[in-house]
Amino acid sequence: MEGFFIMHTSRAVLYDKYGRIDVLHVGEIQLPSPSSGEVLVKVHASALNPKDALVRKGRFAWLTGSRFPKIVGLDFSGTVAEVGKGVELAVGTPVYGSLNELTSRRGTLADYVLIKQHECAPMPNALSFEQAAALPLAAQTSLQALRNLIHLEKGQRILILGASGGVGVYAIQIAKAIGAHVTTTSSAKNQNFCRELGADVVLDYAADNPFNEQYDGIFDAFGNQTFDMARPALKSKGTYVNTVPSKRLFLDAFLTLFSSQRARFVLIRSNTPDLKEIAQMVEQGLVKPVIDQVFDFEQFSPAFAHLETRHARGKIVLSIK
Ligand SMILES: NC(=O)c1ccc[n+]([C@@H]2O[C@H](COP(=O)([O-])OP(=O)(O)OC[C@H]3O[C@@H](n4cnc5c(N)ncnc54)[C@H](OP(=O)(O)O)[C@@H]3O)[C@@H](O)[C@H]2O)c1
Repeated sequence: MEGFFIMHTSRAVLYDKYGRIDVLHVGEIQLPSPSSGEVLVKVHASALNPKDALVRKGRFAWLTGSRFPKIVGLDFSGTVAEVGKGVELAVGTPVYGSLNELTSRRGTLADYVLIKQHECAPMPNALSFEQAAALPLAAQTSLQALRNLIHLEKGQRILILGASGGVGVYAIQIAKAIGAHVTTTSSAKNQNFCRELGADVVLDYAADNPFNEQYDGIFDAFGNQTFDMARPALKSKGTYVNTVPSKRLFLDAFLTLFSSQRARFVLIRSNTPDLKEIAQMVEQGLVKPVIDQVFDFEQFSPAFAHLETRHARGKIVLSIK
Protein backbone atom coordinates (compact mmCIF):
# COMPACT_ATOMS: atom_id res chain seq x y z
CA MET A 1 0.00 0.00 0.00
CA GLU A 2 1.42 3.38 -0.88
CA GLY A 3 -0.03 6.72 0.16
CA PHE A 4 1.04 10.34 -0.18
CA PHE A 5 -1.04 12.68 1.93
CA ILE A 6 -2.23 10.50 4.80
CA MET A 7 -1.02 11.63 8.24
CA HIS A 8 -0.97 9.00 10.98
CA THR A 9 -1.53 10.13 14.55
CA SER A 10 0.59 8.32 17.11
CA ARG A 11 1.22 8.46 20.85
CA ALA A 12 4.93 8.84 21.61
CA VAL A 13 7.25 9.34 24.57
CA LEU A 14 8.73 12.80 23.96
CA TYR A 15 10.97 15.42 25.55
CA ASP A 16 11.19 19.17 24.92
CA LYS A 17 14.62 19.73 26.48
CA TYR A 18 17.62 17.60 27.44
CA GLY A 19 17.53 16.34 30.99
CA ARG A 20 16.67 13.67 33.51
CA ILE A 21 13.84 11.15 33.33
CA ASP A 22 11.29 13.74 34.43
CA VAL A 23 11.57 15.58 31.08
CA LEU A 24 9.79 12.64 29.45
CA HIS A 25 6.06 12.82 28.73
CA VAL A 26 3.52 11.26 26.40
CA GLY A 27 2.37 13.41 23.49
CA GLU A 28 0.87 13.07 20.03
CA ILE A 29 2.87 13.13 16.82
CA GLN A 30 1.83 13.13 13.18
CA LEU A 31 3.59 10.79 10.79
CA PRO A 32 3.37 11.01 7.01
CA SER A 33 2.96 7.97 4.81
CA PRO A 34 6.28 6.28 4.02
CA SER A 35 8.42 7.63 1.18
CA SER A 36 10.44 5.48 -1.16
CA GLY A 37 12.37 2.80 0.78
CA GLU A 38 10.54 3.54 4.03
CA VAL A 39 8.20 1.41 6.12
CA LEU A 40 5.57 2.57 8.58
CA VAL A 41 5.62 0.11 11.48
CA LYS A 42 2.85 -0.32 14.04
CA VAL A 43 5.06 -0.77 17.09
CA HIS A 44 4.08 -3.53 19.53
CA ALA A 45 7.19 -3.50 21.73
CA SER A 46 10.39 -1.53 22.21
CA ALA A 47 13.51 -2.12 24.30
CA LEU A 48 15.55 0.50 26.14
CA ASN A 49 19.25 1.06 25.60
CA PRO A 50 21.78 3.15 27.55
CA LYS A 51 22.06 5.28 24.39
CA ASP A 52 18.41 6.39 24.81
CA ALA A 53 19.30 7.83 28.22
CA LEU A 54 22.57 9.38 27.03
CA VAL A 55 20.86 11.12 24.11
CA ARG A 56 18.08 12.39 26.38
CA LYS A 57 20.69 13.81 28.77
CA GLY A 58 22.25 15.74 25.88
CA ARG A 59 25.49 13.75 25.79
CA PHE A 60 25.43 13.84 21.97
CA ALA A 61 23.85 17.29 21.67
CA TRP A 62 26.52 18.29 19.14
CA LEU A 63 25.03 15.58 16.92
CA THR A 64 21.36 15.56 17.93
CA GLY A 65 20.93 19.35 17.89
CA SER A 66 18.40 21.60 19.59
CA ARG A 67 15.27 20.77 17.64
CA PHE A 68 12.50 19.56 19.98
CA PRO A 69 10.37 17.66 20.72
CA LYS A 70 12.44 14.52 20.34
CA ILE A 71 11.02 11.02 20.46
CA VAL A 72 12.66 8.31 22.56
CA GLY A 73 13.67 4.82 21.48
CA LEU A 74 15.72 2.90 18.93
CA ASP A 75 14.63 -0.76 19.17
CA PHE A 76 11.28 -1.96 17.90
CA SER A 77 9.17 -4.94 16.97
CA GLY A 78 5.81 -4.60 15.31
CA THR A 79 3.87 -5.13 12.13
CA VAL A 80 4.20 -3.43 8.75
CA ALA A 81 1.37 -0.88 8.49
CA GLU A 82 2.24 0.78 5.16
CA VAL A 83 5.19 0.70 2.76
CA GLY A 84 6.84 3.20 0.43
CA LYS A 85 7.93 2.64 -3.14
CA GLY A 86 10.39 -0.20 -3.67
CA VAL A 87 9.67 -1.99 -0.39
CA GLU A 88 8.79 -5.65 -0.79
CA LEU A 89 7.49 -6.33 2.74
CA ALA A 90 3.77 -7.11 2.82
CA VAL A 91 1.45 -5.14 5.08
CA GLY A 92 0.93 -7.13 8.29
CA THR A 93 4.40 -8.77 8.28
CA PRO A 94 5.89 -8.95 11.80
CA VAL A 95 9.26 -7.15 11.71
CA TYR A 96 11.98 -6.15 14.15
CA GLY A 97 14.95 -3.82 14.01
CA SER A 98 16.65 -0.72 15.30
CA LEU A 99 16.97 2.89 14.09
CA ASN A 100 20.43 3.95 12.96
CA GLU A 101 20.32 7.75 13.14
CA LEU A 102 20.43 9.78 16.34
CA THR A 103 19.65 13.07 14.63
CA SER A 104 16.19 12.51 13.24
CA ARG A 105 12.93 12.96 15.12
CA ARG A 106 12.09 9.30 14.81
CA GLY A 107 11.64 7.19 17.94
CA THR A 108 10.25 3.78 18.74
CA LEU A 109 8.50 4.44 22.07
CA ALA A 110 5.43 5.24 20.02
CA ASP A 111 2.43 3.60 18.41
CA TYR A 112 3.99 4.07 14.97
CA VAL A 113 7.50 4.69 13.64
CA LEU A 114 8.80 5.38 10.15
CA ILE A 115 11.86 3.27 9.45
CA LYS A 116 14.19 2.68 6.51
CA GLN A 117 13.61 -0.77 5.08
CA HIS A 118 17.25 -1.78 5.61
CA GLU A 119 16.90 -1.17 9.38
CA CYS A 120 14.48 -4.10 9.77
CA ALA A 121 13.91 -7.76 8.93
CA PRO A 122 11.08 -10.24 9.46
CA MET A 123 10.84 -11.22 13.13
CA PRO A 124 12.21 -14.61 14.22
CA ASN A 125 9.49 -17.27 14.16
CA ALA A 126 7.79 -18.19 17.42
CA LEU A 127 8.88 -15.13 19.37
CA SER A 128 6.50 -12.70 21.06
CA PHE A 129 6.82 -9.03 20.11
CA GLU A 130 8.38 -8.40 23.55
CA GLN A 131 11.01 -11.09 22.98
CA ALA A 132 11.83 -9.85 19.48
CA ALA A 133 12.21 -6.24 20.68
CA ALA A 134 14.86 -7.41 23.16
CA LEU A 135 17.23 -8.37 20.35
CA PRO A 136 18.01 -5.84 17.60
CA LEU A 137 20.46 -3.21 18.87
CA ALA A 138 22.22 -5.29 21.52
CA ALA A 139 22.47 -8.54 19.56
CA GLN A 140 23.67 -6.76 16.40
CA THR A 141 26.32 -4.90 18.46
CA SER A 142 27.64 -8.22 19.75
CA LEU A 143 27.48 -9.90 16.35
CA GLN A 144 29.28 -7.01 14.65
CA ALA A 145 31.96 -6.83 17.38
CA LEU A 146 32.68 -10.57 17.45
CA ARG A 147 32.35 -11.33 13.74
CA ASN A 148 33.50 -8.13 11.98
CA LEU A 149 36.13 -6.79 14.37
CA ILE A 150 37.46 -9.69 16.46
CA HIS A 151 36.89 -12.23 13.63
CA LEU A 152 36.18 -14.81 16.34
CA GLU A 153 36.61 -18.43 15.25
CA LYS A 154 35.70 -21.83 16.59
CA GLY A 155 38.06 -22.96 19.34
CA GLN A 156 39.38 -19.46 20.10
CA ARG A 157 39.25 -17.88 23.55
CA ILE A 158 37.20 -14.75 24.16
CA LEU A 159 36.86 -12.59 27.26
CA ILE A 160 33.56 -10.68 27.61
CA LEU A 161 33.64 -7.86 30.16
CA GLY A 162 30.30 -6.82 31.70
CA ALA A 163 28.60 -9.91 30.30
CA SER A 164 25.27 -9.76 32.16
CA GLY A 165 24.04 -6.53 30.51
CA GLY A 166 21.98 -5.97 27.37
CA VAL A 167 24.95 -6.38 25.02
CA GLY A 168 26.87 -8.98 27.02
CA VAL A 169 24.08 -11.57 27.20
CA TYR A 170 24.10 -11.82 23.40
CA ALA A 171 27.89 -11.74 23.16
CA ILE A 172 28.05 -14.88 25.36
CA GLN A 173 25.49 -16.73 23.23
CA ILE A 174 26.89 -15.66 19.84
CA ALA A 175 30.45 -16.53 20.92
CA LYS A 176 29.24 -20.00 21.98
CA ALA A 177 27.34 -20.35 18.68
CA ILE A 178 30.63 -19.65 16.88
CA GLY A 179 32.24 -22.39 19.02
CA ALA A 180 34.55 -20.22 21.12
CA HIS A 181 35.68 -20.74 24.71
CA VAL A 182 34.04 -17.94 26.71
CA THR A 183 35.22 -16.22 29.88
CA THR A 184 32.98 -13.53 31.39
CA THR A 185 33.07 -10.88 34.06
CA SER A 186 30.01 -9.84 36.04
CA SER A 187 29.21 -9.15 39.67
CA ALA A 188 29.19 -12.23 41.90
CA LYS A 189 25.39 -12.35 41.88
CA ASN A 190 25.33 -12.76 38.08
CA GLN A 191 28.04 -15.42 37.72
CA ASN A 192 25.55 -18.33 37.57
CA PHE A 193 23.41 -16.35 35.13
CA CYS A 194 26.41 -15.98 32.78
CA ARG A 195 27.16 -19.69 33.12
CA GLU A 196 23.54 -20.55 32.24
CA LEU A 197 23.92 -18.47 29.06
CA GLY A 198 26.92 -20.60 28.09
CA ALA A 199 30.03 -19.05 29.65
CA ASP A 200 32.79 -21.57 30.38
CA VAL A 201 34.62 -19.49 33.00
CA VAL A 202 32.79 -16.86 35.06
CA LEU A 203 34.79 -14.19 36.91
CA ASP A 204 33.65 -11.62 39.45
CA TYR A 205 34.71 -8.14 38.34
CA ALA A 206 35.07 -7.02 41.96
CA ALA A 207 37.30 -9.91 43.07
CA ASP A 208 39.09 -11.42 40.06
CA ASN A 209 41.64 -10.03 37.63
CA PRO A 210 40.33 -10.98 34.17
CA PHE A 211 43.63 -10.13 32.52
CA ASN A 212 45.61 -13.05 33.99
CA GLU A 213 44.93 -15.36 31.01
CA GLN A 214 45.54 -14.97 27.25
CA TYR A 215 42.68 -14.38 24.80
CA ASP A 216 42.23 -14.15 21.03
CA GLY A 217 39.65 -11.43 21.60
CA ILE A 218 38.47 -9.20 24.42
CA PHE A 219 35.02 -7.66 24.07
CA ASP A 220 34.53 -4.87 26.61
CA ALA A 221 30.72 -4.90 26.41
CA PHE A 222 30.25 -2.67 29.48
CA GLY A 223 33.03 -0.43 28.19
CA ASN A 224 34.83 0.67 31.35
CA GLN A 225 38.28 -0.82 30.68
CA THR A 226 41.06 0.36 28.36
CA PHE A 227 43.26 -1.18 25.69
CA ASP A 228 46.31 -0.56 27.91
CA MET A 229 44.77 -2.62 30.70
CA ALA A 230 43.64 -5.39 28.36
CA ARG A 231 46.70 -5.61 26.12
CA PRO A 232 48.81 -7.95 28.32
CA ALA A 233 45.93 -10.46 28.11
CA LEU A 234 45.72 -10.36 24.31
CA LYS A 235 47.45 -12.99 22.22
CA SER A 236 49.91 -11.66 19.63
CA LYS A 237 47.16 -11.29 16.98
CA GLY A 238 44.34 -10.48 19.41
CA THR A 239 41.77 -7.69 19.14
CA TYR A 240 40.24 -5.60 21.94
CA VAL A 241 36.82 -4.07 21.19
CA ASN A 242 35.10 -1.45 23.34
CA THR A 243 31.48 -0.24 23.04
CA VAL A 244 32.01 3.23 24.51
CA PRO A 245 33.60 5.94 22.35
CA SER A 246 36.48 7.92 23.90
CA LYS A 247 39.43 9.94 22.61
CA ARG A 248 41.77 7.36 24.16
CA LEU A 249 40.05 4.48 22.32
CA PHE A 250 40.12 6.31 18.97
CA LEU A 251 43.81 7.08 19.45
CA ASP A 252 44.49 3.42 20.35
CA ALA A 253 42.52 2.30 17.28
CA PHE A 254 44.51 4.66 15.07
CA LEU A 255 47.85 3.64 16.56
CA THR A 256 47.04 -0.08 16.09
CA LEU A 257 45.55 0.29 12.60
CA PHE A 258 48.30 -1.91 11.13
CA SER A 259 49.45 -3.70 14.30
CA SER A 260 48.93 -7.38 15.00
CA GLN A 261 47.30 -6.53 18.37
CA ARG A 262 44.44 -4.15 17.70
CA ALA A 263 42.09 -1.83 19.59
CA ARG A 264 38.72 -1.17 17.95
CA PHE A 265 35.43 0.64 18.62
CA VAL A 266 32.19 -1.06 17.62
CA LEU A 267 29.42 1.15 16.27
CA ILE A 268 26.27 -0.82 15.60
CA ARG A 269 24.63 -0.39 12.18
CA SER A 270 21.25 -2.06 12.00
CA ASN A 271 20.90 -3.96 8.74
CA THR A 272 18.65 -6.60 7.25
CA PRO A 273 21.29 -9.33 6.70
CA ASP A 274 22.48 -9.19 10.33
CA LEU A 275 18.90 -9.17 11.65
CA LYS A 276 18.20 -12.21 9.46
CA GLU A 277 21.33 -13.93 10.77
CA ILE A 278 20.21 -13.29 14.35
CA ALA A 279 16.71 -14.54 13.54
CA GLN A 280 18.27 -17.72 12.16
CA MET A 281 20.36 -18.22 15.32
CA VAL A 282 17.20 -17.77 17.40
CA GLU A 283 15.28 -20.26 15.26
CA GLN A 284 18.15 -22.77 15.58
CA GLY A 285 18.03 -22.42 19.37
CA LEU A 286 21.53 -20.89 19.50
CA VAL A 287 20.44 -17.47 20.79
CA LYS A 288 17.49 -16.61 22.99
CA PRO A 289 16.19 -13.17 23.94
CA VAL A 290 17.12 -12.23 27.51
CA ILE A 291 14.61 -9.95 29.23
CA ASP A 292 15.08 -8.48 32.68
CA GLN A 293 11.60 -6.97 32.88
CA VAL A 294 8.66 -5.98 30.66
CA PHE A 295 6.93 -2.67 31.43
CA ASP A 296 3.71 -1.26 29.99
CA PHE A 297 4.07 1.75 27.68
CA GLU A 298 2.82 4.12 30.40
CA GLN A 299 5.53 2.83 32.76
CA PHE A 300 8.37 4.43 30.76
CA SER A 301 9.67 6.37 33.82
CA PRO A 302 10.27 3.36 36.10
CA ALA A 303 11.59 1.46 33.07
CA PHE A 304 14.22 4.17 32.47
CA ALA A 305 14.99 4.38 36.20
CA HIS A 306 15.75 0.65 36.14
CA LEU A 307 17.92 0.97 33.00
CA GLU A 308 19.86 3.82 34.54
CA THR A 309 20.87 1.77 37.60
CA ARG A 310 23.18 0.02 35.08
CA HIS A 311 22.45 -3.26 36.82
CA ALA A 312 19.75 -4.75 34.59
CA ARG A 313 20.23 -8.38 33.54
CA GLY A 314 19.65 -8.43 29.81
CA LYS A 315 17.03 -6.12 28.31
CA ILE A 316 14.26 -3.88 29.60
CA VAL A 317 11.26 -4.01 27.27
CA LEU A 318 8.18 -1.81 26.88
CA SER A 319 4.97 -3.38 25.65
CA ILE A 320 3.01 -1.00 23.42
CA LYS A 321 -0.62 -2.05 23.09
N1 LIG B 1 28.90 1.50 20.28
C1 LIG B 1 27.74 0.90 20.08
O1 LIG B 1 27.29 0.69 18.94
C2 LIG B 1 26.95 0.44 21.28
C3 LIG B 1 25.84 -0.38 21.11
C4 LIG B 1 25.18 -0.85 22.24
C5 LIG B 1 25.62 -0.45 23.50
N2 LIG B 1 26.67 0.38 23.62
C6 LIG B 1 27.18 0.77 24.94
O2 LIG B 1 27.58 -0.43 25.58
C7 LIG B 1 27.48 -0.28 26.98
C8 LIG B 1 26.79 -1.49 27.55
O3 LIG B 1 25.45 -1.53 27.08
P1 LIG B 1 24.41 -2.52 27.74
O4 LIG B 1 23.13 -2.37 27.03
O5 LIG B 1 25.01 -3.87 27.90
O6 LIG B 1 24.30 -1.84 29.21
P2 LIG B 1 23.48 -2.30 30.44
O7 LIG B 1 22.49 -3.36 30.05
O8 LIG B 1 22.96 -1.10 31.14
O9 LIG B 1 24.57 -2.97 31.39
C9 LIG B 1 24.14 -3.40 32.63
C10 LIG B 1 25.03 -4.53 33.07
O10 LIG B 1 26.34 -4.03 33.30
C11 LIG B 1 26.91 -4.69 34.42
N3 LIG B 1 27.84 -3.83 35.14
C12 LIG B 1 27.55 -2.78 35.96
N4 LIG B 1 28.68 -2.25 36.45
C13 LIG B 1 29.71 -2.97 35.91
C14 LIG B 1 31.12 -2.90 36.02
N5 LIG B 1 31.72 -1.98 36.77
N6 LIG B 1 31.86 -3.79 35.33
C15 LIG B 1 31.27 -4.74 34.54
N7 LIG B 1 29.93 -4.85 34.40
C16 LIG B 1 29.17 -3.98 35.07
C17 LIG B 1 25.74 -5.04 35.29
O11 LIG B 1 26.02 -6.25 35.93
P3 LIG B 1 26.05 -6.35 37.51
O12 LIG B 1 24.65 -6.00 37.97
O13 LIG B 1 26.42 -7.77 37.71
O14 LIG B 1 27.05 -5.34 38.01
C18 LIG B 1 24.55 -5.17 34.35
O15 LIG B 1 24.20 -6.53 34.11
C19 LIG B 1 26.74 1.05 27.20
O16 LIG B 1 27.66 2.05 27.56
C20 LIG B 1 26.14 1.36 25.85
O17 LIG B 1 25.93 2.73 25.63
C21 LIG B 1 27.34 0.83 22.55
